[in-house]
Amino acid sequence: MKAEVEVRAARSGEEHLAEPAAALIAESAAEHDIAPRSVEWLAAKIRAGKAAVALLGDELVGFGYWSEWEDGAFVSHSGLVVRPDLRGDKLGRRLKTVLMESSRAAYPRAILMSLTTSEAVKAMNLALGFKVVGFDRVTTDEAFWDGCKTCRNYEETRRRGLRCCCEPMILEPEPAG
Ligand SMILES: CC(C)(COP(=O)(O)OP(=O)(O)OC[C@H]1O[C@@H](n2cnc3c(N)ncnc32)[C@H](O)[C@@H]1OP(=O)(O)O)[C@@H](O)C(=O)NCCC(=O)NCCS
Repeated sequence: MKAEVEVRAARSGEEHLAEPAAALIAESAAEHDIAPRSVEWLAAKIRAGKAAVALLGDELVGFGYWSEWEDGAFVSHSGLVVRPDLRGDKLGRRLKTVLMESSRAAYPRAILMSLTTSEAVKAMNLALGFKVVGFDRVTTDEAFWDGCKTCRNYEETRRRGLRCCCEPMILEPEPAG
């Protein structure tokens, strides 16, 4: 029988999951356009309730986190990763749904941002109502763009005068009723 993977928001007190999360992201970053993050940085996300985890028993098999920018005008979803042997089985979609729910609860009026080159992320974003936009529709907060510095394409992208190698996608909040 196939073991059930639990996907949910990370809880304060689960900061130990930051280490396997950083490892999963770092391993993927060699082949995919995903920016590595330190264990301390990811532990802070877990502590703040801004992370989603996929757990097979006690083992972390998927992760993602969110961040707010410009006083909550924008929320980015980042670091989405699933262990390679478990990809294509909807764990990414389930993690993304958790990120959407927890970030929407904290910032209901925020524009959700997802910058990606991943076909899987683009597919799930489109299915969730995100649309592809230009860089002028996402945050100008330099702290967000500083986060690109650990991406494997950073030097080449900046050398070509581009802001980022990814395609920006956004989901706007429902109009206030
Ligand atoms: C991105 C990632 C987390 C997706 O996780 P996953 O569990 O494989 O994704 P899912 O099975 O939930 O599939 C999500 C969607 O992508 C589609 N999809 C999956 N793999 C795909 C592929 N290789 N090409 C195109 N579409 C794909 C699925 O059909 C699904 O579409 P739907 O939501 O409309 O049904 C995973 O591929 C990964 O860890 N990639 C490496 C790290 C990375 O690039 N992260 C993204 C950084 S922005």
